[in-house]
Amino acid sequence: MYTTEMSKTVKPIEVAEDPALVEAFEARVAADEFIEPKDWMPDAYRKTLVRQISQHAHSEIVGMLPEGNWITRAPSLRRKAILLAKVQDEAGHGLYLYCAAETLGTSREQMIDALHSGKAKYSTIFNYPTLTWADIGAIGWLVDGAAIMNQVPLQRTSYGPYARAMVRVCKEESFHQRQGYEIMIALANGTPEQRRMAQDALNRWWWPSLMMFGPPDDNSPNTERSMRWRIKRETNDELRQKFVDITKPQADYLGLTIPDAALAWNEEKGGHDYGEIDWEEFYAVVRGEGPVARERMEARRKAWDDGAWVRDAAAAHEAKRQAKAAA
Ligand SMILES: [Fe+2]
Ligand SMILES: [Fe+2]
Repeated sequence: MYTTEMSKTVKPIEVAEDPALVEAFEARVAADEFIEPKDWMPDAYRKTLVRQISQHAHSEIVGMLPEGNWITRAPSLRRKAILLAKVQDEAGHGLYLYCAAETLGTSREQMIDALHSGKAKYSTIFNYPTLTWADIGAIGWLVDGAAIMNQVPLQRTSYGPYARAMVRVCKEESFHQRQGYEIMIALANGTPEQRRMAQDALNRWWWPSLMMFGPPDDNSPNTERSMRWRIKRETNDELRQKFVDITKPQADYLGLTIPDAALAWNEEKGGHDYGEIDWEEFYAVVRGEGPVARERMEARRKAWDDGAWVRDAAAAHEAKRQAKAAA
C-alpha cells in the first residue's frame, strides 16, 4: 500500500568523511558484517546503493509489462493462473526494493519521478517486445534465470535491508525460472509450429539475456569499488559465464539451438567460450532506444496517473485514522 508515512523523506545526517569512520566502516564490511540503515556509511556507498536498489526496483516493476501483455492470452486457465501469480510476485519484488532504498534516505516519489522522467534506468531487457506465447517461456527460463544468477550473491550483499529483501526474492525467482522452462518443454515437445516458436523466442531473447549482466568488467567503472564494499560479490563477466554454462545444457535438453556459432566447451578453462556481444545494441537500449522503450514508459506513466485516486484515498484514510487516534 502506498502511504505518505512510508514515503517520508529521511534526510541523511551530514557527517564529514572522517578517515577513522571510513576505516571502521571498511573493517566491518571486510568482516562480513551487515551495514544497517542507522549505521554511518560513506556517502558514495549510500549513493551507489540508492542507484543500484532503485534501478533494481524499477526493473521489477517495468518487468511486469511484457508479461502482463499475455495474461489475457495465456493458452489455458492453468497457464493464466501461473502467469498472474508470477507477475504479482514481480510487483512484490519492486515494493520490497523501494522500501529498502527508502531506508537510505530517498523517497518513493523521488524514485518514481526519476523513472518516469527518464532519469533513472532499468534493465534493458524489458525494452524488447513479447511477440508470441513462447516469449513467456523464454523470459521465465532466460530472463528470470539471469536474474537469479545476479541475485543469489546479493543475498550476502553488505547492506542489510537489501540482502534480506533478496532472500525472499530469490525463492520466488526459482519458481519463475521453472515455470518458464516448463513452458519451453511443452513447446519443444509440441507440434513443429510450436517447436519453431520456441526456437524463435530463444533466438530473440538469448543475446539480450547475456546483456542483463551489464557491461564487460574492463568497461564497468563501478565494479572494483562495489566489490571492495561487498555490494557486489561477483563481477559481471563471472556471472555471465556461469549463466552460459548452466543454460547451454538446458537448451540441449530442449533440443533447441543457442544462436551463437562460437559457443563451444573450452576444456582448459572449464567453461564455454561464447561469441562477441553487440555492445552497441546494449548501449543504444540503455540510452532508451530499445524497440518498445517508449511504450513501456507510457504504460508506466498511465498506470501512475490512473492510480492517483488510490493514493489519495489511502492518504485521506490515514489522515482520518490519525485524527481519530488523536481525539
Ligand atoms: Fe523479480
Ligand atoms: Fe522473476
